[in-house]
Amino acid sequence: MITNPEVSTLRSTWLMPSEAYTSAQWYDREQRDLFGRTWVFVASIEELAQPGDFVTTTIGNEPVVVVRDKQGALRAFSNVCPHRGITLLEGCGNTAKGVVCPYHHWNFALNGELRSVPQPEQFPELDKEAFGLYPLPLAEWGASVFVNLSEGPEPFEDWMGAFPASLGAHDPSRLVEVAHRQRVVESNWKFLVENTIEVYHLFYLHRTTQDQYQNHLFDNWFDGWHWSSYTPLYPERSFNEEESNIEWDAVTLPPWLGDREKGGIYVHLIFPNMVLFITSRVFRIMTLIPEGPHRCRIDLRTRAMPGTDPSLFDDEVNETFEEDVMACERMQRGVRSSRFAVRTLAKDHERPIGIFQSKLLAAMAAE
Ligand code: FES
Ligand SMILES: [Fe+2]
Repeated sequence: MITNPEVSTLRSTWLMPSEAYTSAQWYDREQRDLFGRTWVFVASIEELAQPGDFVTTTIGNEPVVVVRDKQGALRAFSNVCPHRGITLLEGCGNTAKGVVCPYHHWNFALNGELRSVPQPEQFPELDKEAFGLYPLPLAEWGASVFVNLSEGPEPFEDWMGAFPASLGAHDPSRLVEVAHRQRVVESNWKFLVENTIEVYHLFYLHRTTQDQYQNHLFDNWFDGWHWSSYTPLYPERSFNEEESNIEWDAVTLPPWLGDREKGGIYVHLIFPNMVLFITSRVFRIMTLIPEGPHRCRIDLRTRAMPGTDPSLFDDEVNETFEEDVMACERMQRGVRSSRFAVRTLAKDHERPIGIFQSKLLAAMAAE
């Protein structure tokens, strides 16, 4: 099990060697030792509404499927056929009748049991109970589904710890998913995390796109593994002014929000790769899925009040996001330089980066 190091014991200096962003060996180790044993976001609850609904993904090196079974329970399995190892399902959809392997048609129930094997006389010794789908720990929180690849992981509630209180009155489970996009970025996933948790660049890279926020009042804190922040808007400004080209007046304000939620932006990191951007009208979930040392896939979901017209988000252009992508892709190119190493960080504004790196190294080093 991985143990969370206390923030007070952590150094806030840059701890990562360049290889952490460039080398295949580091990438493999991270896939195995980090993503192989933390809780990882895999889907939103809307994708798994009906019995038989399924979503496939890959965590670390493991193909994973999450399915809602006949009784309505969510289950996660290794998405690998116990016969010869072919991946069973692809993409997402509904498989209400169970799962039939495309290769030799072994047939599995939605609870993972092996139901039948064609030409059973070919397998006279087969113990069907030993050939069910391999189950994986699953948890549900805030309309999101998480999976953990390790055996007997820390319970999800313990993993989240005090973090949920940092959302204030924001409640993603009372909102619905209105947009879901993916995009490949030519950057190591950690650059995108580190870009999210430092405030220094907001004054400069985003000087025209994020000037509605009082960045000098940026407040941030760690709850266990996870990081949170809050930045108030200028009193006469509204978050939606430069956020993107959405017609924000058509997106209803959740009536349960208080003045703090309406008057600022929350940005959070659920360790290691799930970022939340929460403004008064939308709750965004950005997951950074590693796809090699130099590349990651951004999975971006937007939740808003039920009844919000999803087409409002069809042609969204978010300049802040484009600025961040540009910076991370250029850091990825720069980090290959043999002449460069990070030697200093801003003592407050970039401090979360050092703490994130400490936690990441501790998680990877755990037994
Ligand atoms: S590999 Fe699945 S039935 Fe043979
Ligand atoms: Fe940014």
